[in-house]
Amino acid sequence: MAKLICGKCHKVYEYCEDGKCPKCGNKTNQTYEFSNSDDYLKAHIPIITQFRKDIGLQGLVKGLNCVIINTEPENQGFTVEELLKNTGFIFGHSFQDKNFKTTVLKSNNSADILIKSRKKEINPFYSYNIRPKAKNLPNTRLESFVFEVSNLSKYVEIQKEQNIKFLTDIIDTDNFSFIQTEPSKYIGTSYGFIQWHKNKGDYHPDEFKSFSSDIKKPDFNHLKNIKELDHTATRVKAQDRDAAILEFMRLTNYNFNFAIYVKHLNSITNVARLSAKDFAMVFTSGITNYTSSEESGPTERFTYNYGTRVHHMAFNTNKIEDTYEGLKENGMDFLIQLIGSENEGLKQTFSVQSPNTLIVNEYIHRYGDFDGFFTKSNVTDLTRSTEKQ
Ligand SMILES: [Fe+2]
Repeated sequence: MAKLICGKCHKVYEYCEDGKCPKCGNKTNQTYEFSNSDDYLKAHIPIITQFRKDIGLQGLVKGLNCVIINTEPENQGFTVEELLKNTGFIFGHSFQDKNFKTTVLKSNNSADILIKSRKKEINPFYSYNIRPKAKNLPNTRLESFVFEVSNLSKYVEIQKEQNIKFLTDIIDTDNFSFIQTEPSKYIGTSYGFIQWHKNKGDYHPDEFKSFSSDIKKPDFNHLKNIKELDHTATRVKAQDRDAAILEFMRLTNYNFNFAIYVKHLNSITNVARLSAKDFAMVFTSGITNYTSSEESGPTERFTYNYGTRVHHMAFNTNKIEDTYEGLKENGMDFLIQLIGSENEGLKQTFSVQSPNTLIVNEYIHRYGDFDGFFTKSNVTDLTRSTEKQ
């Protein structure tokens, strides 16, 4: 039997008796057969663009400022160590306050990476982490995408009018003001917003203690080839793809850009962009919902096993052949060898999943004036390689 999805509440169902969605009562003329396509998203781009203008959001949110990765306390140091060893990021600063220990990693022209662990047990993301292959790391996930805003109090006032729920009130410090949403029910990740007052990129709160570590950045030449955070890919359930992307568009100034379908792997790679130069937000989902591990393909199987979460962080990489060899020589294992070619404009690879963060590293080299962002053949090979997870 064909599946239907409600265009209003996104409930997926197989049968309705009275022509209405069984969950919210929406009339079925606004439902559509459930197999993801881009029609619904494309129809909503102008609607959301106009909506952002109408409520005063247009231009208020800028690019990605940082991502926050929370780890188990005992893995925080290992996480810092592996990112220093496997990327071009360098140590920024470390501090602890009453709730968290935090280490800030930095790279030129890039969003920062904040590695945190909790000092208290209350974790609003906990329930998203309790999945068959993730429950042994119940506090581990990329928890927040933090975007810079020009006027945080105005932003929060507008979004509260839209019933957006935040984890706290605005946290004001001398240097910045910050807030983050409750975890999105579609991606298990929060959206954070920061307004800088003085020194952009200094995350020290007003009251903190420094903590030192003896972790050093290795002096490997190939690490200099690994540059900024290019994109992340969040894996979501097939039924939540449209809702996750539309939610992201309502909270930021990003727009859905394009999608690549890999039908035989039941997978769609969806790209949302702010501009061609900015960090790109990628959502990957099934075309149809999870049914079983044997039949559902690697994308839906991943969300079943690990929950909806960030699957990989991609780093823009020069001299990718040398870099790939250098990483291998220094102990990194990969899900797939280097794929693509200079002729096609793109080479990429995936590392294995980090045991400390459950995140894969992607290394990506775009050649010359390649402006396609991805190629279908690479997306297909990379998706297939994640069957090993
Ligand atoms: Fe990617």
